[in-house]
Amino acid sequence: MSTPNEIAMGSSGKSLPAGAFVAASWQPSGLELQCVDGTATLVADWLRDNCPCASCRIVQTDERRWQPWSATGPAESHSATIVDGELVIEWSDGHASTYSRAAFDGFNRAMHRNSYTARLWRNGDDLGWFDHDAVLADMSQRQAMFETFQRDGVVIISGSPTEPGAVIGFAKAINVALVDSQLGFIFDVKLDPTGYNIAYTAEGLPPHNDNAQRTHPPSGQVLAMLVNDADGGESFVVDGFSVLEQLRAIDPAAVEVLARVSVGFRQYSKTADGFTRAPLVALDAAGRFTHLRFSNQLRQPLPFDHPDLEEWYRAYRLLGSIVTDPANFVSFRLKAGDMLFVNGYRVMHARHEYQPNGPRHLQDVYFDVDDFSANLALLTGQATNAMVH
Ligand SMILES: [Fe+2]
Ligand SMILES: [Zn+2]
Repeated sequence: MSTPNEIAMGSSGKSLPAGAFVAASWQPSGLELQCVDGTATLVADWLRDNCPCASCRIVQTDERRWQPWSATGPAESHSATIVDGELVIEWSDGHASTYSRAAFDGFNRAMHRNSYTARLWRNGDDLGWFDHDAVLADMSQRQAMFETFQRDGVVIISGSPTEPGAVIGFAKAINVALVDSQLGFIFDVKLDPTGYNIAYTAEGLPPHNDNAQRTHPPSGQVLAMLVNDADGGESFVVDGFSVLEQLRAIDPAAVEVLARVSVGFRQYSKTADGFTRAPLVALDAAGRFTHLRFSNQLRQPLPFDHPDLEEWYRAYRLLGSIVTDPANFVSFRLKAGDMLFVNGYRVMHARHEYQPNGPRHLQDVYFDVDDFSANLALLTGQATNAMVH
């Protein structure tokens, strides 16, 4: 079984047909709506629920006022006509709905919002590198950066200021909110004999995502390199979706046990103690991977009498051997002013051991990748005219 090169993420449904409304008639399965570019069958409840009128919608805020449970049963209508290019439906309870072509275009945008194609990558593939000043000044560069991050789960931005905390200003400038935590807001990763995490040593860091100890880890992370004058310490990243597709191709049962068994993770400092229990792998209803939680260093003992223990260890060894296979590494050296952005639900980051023969200092901050999607939707027009106007 071969692994895919890309995966369609988000809504997998069709779009409503384009073009002016031509004819509409009720059939046993719903409203058959004919447009210039095709025909669709629309369920009565769906049409009623999405009535754009000023009593069903709060026009000022473009929110829904209509509550489907306020009707006694399923929506019912025997009347549908096209009047002046608009679809008019009279419902059995006396309400009337008028849908413009623009309203249907809005439904299409809402139904497909945040859909994208994930590109699965591995060693030999190029990642997206962007220039700090260009991303700030040039909206087409900024959009390309957001699109690349969505597609790959990773981008690198070069030429950033190297003063401590500069990443905070950059995040603000691109409309991305940083998230705080009990462990801290900004993490100064440098050699620190009192550090509570392997990152504060000079040891190599195996591929992992941060905050496995949180039930809902922040989905985005920035690693902003301020100075890197130590020998060694090359960075590399691993595409978790690619890894999981490889695992599923050779052993689908391994994926199932990893998605079934909850594993404890703990990370703590002098003042914080984070712990959660969650499966390593999460999938959506369509069987697409949505989250790989991987931090061998933070992993806690499983219950000794767990019925899936042997099967789980077999699967975990297999997963770990794919995660740490150099065929899946994309490597680079982060130099001063390089900021590595990763989607932590998908992409694992790592570094090789370094020689503490010169200063090395990077700062980690966290965000929610939804902010990236939102900015992209604003830039592409996906977020305009949501439903009514
Ligand atoms: Fe990390
Ligand atoms: Zn209405």
